Order: sequence, then C-alpha cells, then structure tokens
Amino acid sequence: MSLSKPTVGIDPGNPWYSMLLCLRCRTVLSLLNGELACQACARTYPIDDGIPRFVPEEGYAEGFGYQWNRHRLTQLDSYSGMPISRDRVMNASGWSADELRGKTVLECGSGAGRFTEVLCETGAIVTSFDISSAVHANAASNSRFSNLRLLQASVYDLPLPEESFEYVICFGVIQHTPDVERTFKTLLRYVRPGGRFCIDVYAAPIAYLHPRHLLRPVTRRIPPAQLYGIVQKVAPKLLPLSMMFNAIPRVGPYLARLVPVANHRHLNLPNKKVMRDWSVLDTFDWLAPRYERPQTRRRLQRWAKELELSKVSIKRYRGLYVICGIK
Ligand SMILES: C[S@@+](CC[C@H](N)C(=O)[O-])C[C@H]1O[C@@H](n2cnc3c(N)ncnc32)[C@H](O)[C@@H]1O
Repeated sequence: MSLSKPTVGIDPGNPWYSMLLCLRCRTVLSLLNGELACQACARTYPIDDGIPRFVPEEGYAEGFGYQWNRHRLTQLDSYSGMPISRDRVMNASGWSADELRGKTVLECGSGAGRFTEVLCETGAIVTSFDISSAVHANAASNSRFSNLRLLQASVYDLPLPEESFEYVICFGVIQHTPDVERTFKTLLRYVRPGGRFCIDVYAAPIAYLHPRHLLRPVTRRIPPAQLYGIVQKVAPKLLPLSMMFNAIPRVGPYLARLVPVANHRHLNLPNKKVMRDWSVLDTFDWLAPRYERPQTRRRLQRWAKELELSKVSIKRYRGLYVICGIK
C-alpha cells in the first residue's frame, strides 16, 4: 500500500484503524509495512486495495462477491437517480439523517454499498463490513466519503470493540448466514448500551412458499459465473410473463409469484433496461446463496427478550420482518 495515497480503509493521516483489534488476542493493531500487525502475538492482517481483510477467503459468500462486483452500481441511489435505498433505510429504521449525523454506525453485510452510501450521506461515521469481495465494489463507489471505514470481515469474528456503536444496521444479510440466531445475537454485542439497532430478515413461513425454494437446492451448487450466465439469459425472458400476470386483476399477483423471476414493478424503475438489471441481480440473489433461513416473528420476539432489548418493534415489510429497538 502506498502511504501517500488516501484510501477508503486506511488513511495514515486519519488512523481510524487504531480501533481495530487482533482477532486472536484482542490487542490494538498497528500499521506496519503496509499490513496491520499485532505487536502482542505477531499476527498480521493484509490490506487489499486499502481495505483491511480479516477473512482468509469469502467461503460460502463467494456468490455474493460475484454478484456485487457484477452489479456494483445497479442499486445505488446515486446511479438510479431515485431515493430507493434511502427510503428503505429511513422508513425501516425510523431514524433521520439529522439524528445520525456525527454518530457511530456499524453496517453489517454491506454488499455493493447501496445502504452504505445513504448512511455516509447523513454525515454519520460509518464502519461497514462484508465477508465477501463485495467490499471492493463498495469501495469503488463510496470512496468519496471520508467518513467511511470499510473492512472485509465476518460478523462472527470482528476486529471491533464490543458495545462501541451508537447505531447498528443490517439489511438483507442474516437469513444468508449459517446460524441466524447467532448472527443476530453477535451483532447486538456491538451496540452500545442505549444504542439503537435495525435488522431485517426474510419472513417465515411465507418466504418458503416462493418457487425459488424448489430451484435453490440445485442452483446454489452451480458455480457463480455459470449460474449468472443462465440467469442473465432466462430472467429477461420471464420478466414480461411476470408483468403480464401481474396486470390481471385480483389473481394476477398470485400467478406472478409462480414465475421464478424478480419483478420490481412496485419501484417504478425508469426504463426496461434498468428493470432488467434489477431483475437479473435479484433473481441471481435468490438462487445463488448457500444459506437462506427465513425467521418467524415469534423467534425474533424470543431473541429480543433473551437479550433484554427495549422499545422493540417488529414490522412486516413486503416479504421481510424488520426488527428495531434499543439495547
Ligand atoms: C443479500 S446481500 C445484501 C447486501 C446489502 N446489505 C444490500 O442489501 O444490498 C448479503 C450480504 O451479506 C454478506 N454476508 C453473508 N454472511 C456474512 C457474514 N458472516 N459476515 C459479514 N457479511 C456477510 C454477503 O457477502 C452479502 O454481501
């Protein structure tokens, strides 16, 4: 790494990395010969393109790395020119840009950074991480923000001090992890007492009625580039059929659900090309993940109770539950 080049992850003039901890012994890391090094146990962590890396490889999230690097821009508000991601963050969380300004925010599983962009625009100090190479897509789009701290890391093994963030946000992630309860509870450890959180998850049992569940046992085993090639060919052919079904009064939306293609007609996207891009991206996102484990409202209530969270609300938003509250 060139020390003269400011990067998203590491800026020597603004050493936020001094909050990063060794995964093995929890000692504060230092920058040494272009790597992060633990002075206590001698373990080192690479910095790839300015992003500190705390996972040896993407593992089960390889497909996500692939999809977000292919679709780096598709869902960014600054690219679509529509406040879709911004509205989702603000409506789901009930937080305002004013309240977030200057606050510490932790974002888990940031993908290509559609929500990272929204959070950074509020002026919050945003620490964002993802287990996959999606962090490089995020960096390419959001490196203009000096308030962004980006890491490649897993929620199960974070180099961050616990109870240190005023806000924690996580959208579209926990159902795709191997142990959803552990993910939820681990993430909550990083919220400071009195801090706020907002996490969404696919809603069970309704999510299981989707036809992707018939296909995923096969499609999730196909290498990402190959599966993407198939989806890129098939999704644009199925989309008009899904649109046609949707136009049928009353029964249409139910019929459309039988067609295994993501259809974002509710977003009023500006043209057919943009609709196709979103459709290919989200159809791949349905079919590729190794894990997809929707959760019931009752289970979320139980976890919130076990963690003694307060002011908890669980709202239904389309196929999701959104759980927010205070630690
Ligand atoms: C469906 S994507 C959602 C990305 C982004 N939040 C969005 O909504 O656009 C799920 C993301 O979670 C990440 N992820 C999965 N398991 C993770 C883990 N254990 N730690 C951190 N990120 C993880 C994946 O790499 C992927 O980028």
